[in-house]
Amino acid sequence: MPSLRSLSLLALSALLSSITPSVAKIKSEVAPKVPGAYIVELQDNQSQDSFYNSLGAAGQAVKRRQNLKFSLFNGVSFQLLNTTDEDNAAKSIEDMVEVRQIWPVRLFSVPKDEVVWTGNDRTEVPSAGVDQLRARGVTGEGVRIAVIDTGTDYLHPALGGCFGEGCLVSFGTDLVGDAYDGTNEAVPDPDPYDDCEGHGTHVAGIIAAQMNPFGFTGAAPDVTLGSYRVFGCGGSAGNDVLIAAYNQAYEDGADIITASIGGPSGWSEDPWAVAVQRIVEQGVPCTVSAGNAGAEGLFYASTAANGKRVTAVASVDNTESPAVLLNGTYSVDDSMTEMSFGWTEGSPSDWGNISLPLYAGNYDTSEPADACEPYPDSTPDLSGYIVLIRRGSCTFVQKVTNAAEKGARYVMFYNNVAGASAVTANVDGIEGIGMTTADQGAEWVQLLADGSTVTLNIIDPDFADNFAISEPNTLTGGFLSTFTSWGPTYELDVKPQISAPGGMILSTYPLALGGYAVLSGTSMACPLAAAVIALVGSVRGTFDPSTMENLLSATANPNLFNDGGSTYDYLAPVPQQGSGLIQAFDAAYSNVVLSVSSLAFNDTDYFEDTMNFTLSNAADDSVTYTLSNVGAAAGYTFSGGSIYPDLFPNELVDNYASVDFSSKEVTVAGGGETTVTIMMTPPDGLDASRLPVWSGYIAMNGSDGSSLSLPYQGVTGSMTSQTVLDPDNTYLTTSASSNYDPVTEDNPTFLLPASNATATDATVYPEAAISLAFGSALVRCDVHPVGPYGQHKAAKGKKILGVKSLGNIYGFPYRYAPRGGVIAAWDGMLEDGTMAPAGTYQLVVSALHIFGDSGDKKDYDRAETVPFTIEYVGQEDDSKDNGKGNGKGNGKGNSKV
Ligand SMILES: *[C@@H]1O[C@H](CO)[C@@H](O)[C@H](O)[C@H]1NC(C)=O
Ligand SMILES: *[C@@H]1O[C@H](CO)[C@@H](O)[C@H](O)[C@H]1NC(C)=O
Ligand SMILES: *[C@@H]1O[C@H](CO)[C@@H](O)[C@H](O)[C@H]1NC(C)=O
Ligand SMILES: *[C@@H]1O[C@H](CO)[C@@H](O)[C@H](O)[C@H]1NC(C)=O
Ligand SMILES: *[C@@H]1O[C@H](CO)[C@@H](O)[C@H](O)[C@H]1NC(C)=O
Ligand SMILES: *[C@@H]1O[C@H](CO)[C@@H](O)[C@H](O)[C@H]1NC(C)=O
Ligand SMILES: *[C@@H]1O[C@H](CO)[C@@H](O)[C@H](O)[C@H]1NC(C)=O
Ligand SMILES: *[C@@H]1O[C@H](CO)[C@@H](O)[C@H](O)[C@H]1NC(C)=O
Repeated sequence: MPSLRSLSLLALSALLSSITPSVAKIKSEVAPKVPGAYIVELQDNQSQDSFYNSLGAAGQAVKRRQNLKFSLFNGVSFQLLNTTDEDNAAKSIEDMVEVRQIWPVRLFSVPKDEVVWTGNDRTEVPSAGVDQLRARGVTGEGVRIAVIDTGTDYLHPALGGCFGEGCLVSFGTDLVGDAYDGTNEAVPDPDPYDDCEGHGTHVAGIIAAQMNPFGFTGAAPDVTLGSYRVFGCGGSAGNDVLIAAYNQAYEDGADIITASIGGPSGWSEDPWAVAVQRIVEQGVPCTVSAGNAGAEGLFYASTAANGKRVTAVASVDNTESPAVLLNGTYSVDDSMTEMSFGWTEGSPSDWGNISLPLYAGNYDTSEPADACEPYPDSTPDLSGYIVLIRRGSCTFVQKVTNAAEKGARYVMFYNNVAGASAVTANVDGIEGIGMTTADQGAEWVQLLADGSTVTLNIIDPDFADNFAISEPNTLTGGFLSTFTSWGPTYELDVKPQISAPGGMILSTYPLALGGYAVLSGTSMACPLAAAVIALVGSVRGTFDPSTMENLLSATANPNLFNDGGSTYDYLAPVPQQGSGLIQAFDAAYSNVVLSVSSLAFNDTDYFEDTMNFTLSNAADDSVTYTLSNVGAAAGYTFSGGSIYPDLFPNELVDNYASVDFSSKEVTVAGGGETTVTIMMTPPDGLDASRLPVWSGYIAMNGSDGSSLSLPYQGVTGSMTSQTVLDPDNTYLTTSASSNYDPVTEDNPTFLLPASNATATDATVYPEAAISLAFGSALVRCDVHPVGPYGQHKAAKGKKILGVKSLGNIYGFPYRYAPRGGVIAAWDGMLEDGTMAPAGTYQLVVSALHIFGDSGDKKDYDRAETVPFTIEYVGQEDDSKDNGKGNGKGNGKGNSKV
């Protein structure tokens, strides 16, 4: 008895607290479930065969998804073939003796890193100390780095040109095949070629690209790469595939595993994060991109980066804005002289080889909103022109739509910032769009204003040559990328750990897609951190994950805050940058190692004022350190009165914690160890009701000229007092409302199918729209009977958290929920697999506070929907009554046939 949208997890944005439920606008889907697909972890002593045999004996036909038989994980994932009674089937599998845990398969997307076509010469990323190591001949030789991604174009000459033993990409596999989209069958094959995406090829080049005509190499060009392909040519990857890929890479002997993949979470208990944590605990460092959701503000850690002991990598912008441009030419008036110009193709890109004059609707090259309004009636038919439009103010689609309304087929944007980027505006009638630089656009506009005709000669982008430009990035170069996701986790673990260059990075790209590209994202920062671990580990002769993380953290350089426009005179908060910009050379040669990578002082309720850490000195000579405290900006999570975290840039203040040291000078003897005790006093003057996250660094200046720093973080206020559920935006909607509008009818009746046989596309299901303002480790959705219920024995009596309840709707409780919207459709089934009797109900949503006691009703926020009535229609399905009893029989009396 599947519901049409059994449980989709949707992030709702623009949730305004108001008296009437406001209609929530769906922004993005948070790790959606695959209908009928499950991951099962088996008991240690159980085999996959015996599990599948038991399933067969129980009459449950499944299609196997992933074989998850690994040393660190014993399980399987599968797709139920008969989903007639899916919810019940999953419930009975959960109860099987062989089964330890069961999770739905959830989907993760290829990260939306910005693709910026790219340039020719070596791009100056902040070197992060890699150049110094390379100058000493440290190249990562022999280190095995596994990359979990879209595969690798290993035929690329800069990526070795082959796959297998002796090649740069020497191990790995394709776990999924081209047609895989996360919901369908994975068809593995041994060949992890990057057929169609490019992301994994870019990531591989950041680690290990060989010297090439574009003049760069990866950070660790002598490593051996493993390529584990987990994405097909479209769609997403299931977390079963991600767990399989990690474990396969571990068993294939990877020294380091890196994945530039993630989804919103904030909880280290997520199954994929737990699987990665187990691998780290076996001695293999795992780097995972921190996420590209910086816009969401504080407390938006991404999984699996938010796993305990997983190294989450944030992104710093490049100091140069490289761009690889297509070579086009243009001529002015009747001149035979052709001059070249650079441009990037957008989407659509059916340019072909064309020569057409330019048309500009506006000769003001500082106009912020060019083409945001419809073109005037006096505009000629634009089908014979390439329409020139300045970037800015409204969307690309808006501008292109206005041009298309006057017949335009081709649009060339000119930029309003450095470089040129790939833009998408799929608008009817438009065949090609592209972008040129701000200077080039201004030059043409001037010519047009002077009455000249400017004719562009475009060569089809599939055939045109490339050339490179690079402009200094004076605005954000060297600072944290605005897109990088902020921690901490909801349980106040420090996230991210480290930052690395990830904004505007030139690397390899599949030959079929041009060979080289500039991309931006924490996806680009993460492989660099993995490569740095390879370099540092090969110098030090260990890859021990704690040692690596503690070293990288202690030697990193904390950075000032930049909001994308201005730089401030305070350090960026630890929840944005972790320990700061990675410093490979210092990490490789630091004699002194700290025992921790950060200190978490929790919140006011659980504040621990005293903590210890140890410095160990591997050198012969003693070093004396002078200790000091350097505060970083404190960030307010909320504006006064709001229960939703502020979006970036949230308010930052320079109120700093103060630190007392057991001793301001500590000497660590050669070969010795010294423990430092610090006593923390949170900053004065913070408004605890707005949940400020304060942070900073313990700075250690050594007598040998070395300097180390240790990030710390705490919260003023009470995590557990924070509202997690928005009652004003938790309400009844229906599967018929695509906008998730609240039901306005008084006690509406839903005619639910008595069995799947009678479900039709027209069946309308009741749905609870649940708005989580903050993360919750446990969200219940209880079925609360209202009205005269004498006829339902089962409906009487039982109270859960103080409310009369038949239990959760099937699929709940939902554990470790990120903040955002959840749509819970209900087909009448309860969490134990039985059907609720026909009758009138409210759905009561309870969300557990952070650090709350799940047994104490005071620790939940609660909201209930308006009452509604369910009735069952269609044939009685006798098979359902067998052995289920509870709750069903009585309700059937009300069924209509
Ligand atoms: C497997 O382990 C479980 C839990 O420890 C135990 O109850 C069960 O009897 C064991 N089964 C076999 C086949 O050893
Ligand atoms: C599918 O499952 C339902 C409910 O358990 C059962 O009635 C039906 O016979 C099954 N169909 C097949 C083809 O096995
Ligand atoms: C359940 O019913 C829906 C709607 O009629 C149908 O699309 C689906 O295939 C059915 N599922 C099964 C397993 O029969
Ligand atoms: C662009 O193409 C034109 C015509 O083919 C050629 O003369 C010019 O040198 C090219 N420019 C660059 C920068 O490659
Ligand atoms: C477009 O021009 C390129 C380069 O001159 C040429 O190779 C290609 O064949 C042309 N395409 C068409 C369709 O004429
Ligand atoms: C903060 O305290 C809570 C409650 O004791 C605990 O569950 C949590 O793990 C602590 N967080 C950290 C980072 O120590
Ligand atoms: C810190 O170290 C001191 C001295 O070794 C010890 O007495 C104390 O208990 C430690 N404190 C904590 C919080 O671990
Ligand atoms: C540590 O060194 C930094 C950089 O040289 C300097 O700014 C700072 O004042 C020093 N701190 C102490 C306590 O000496």
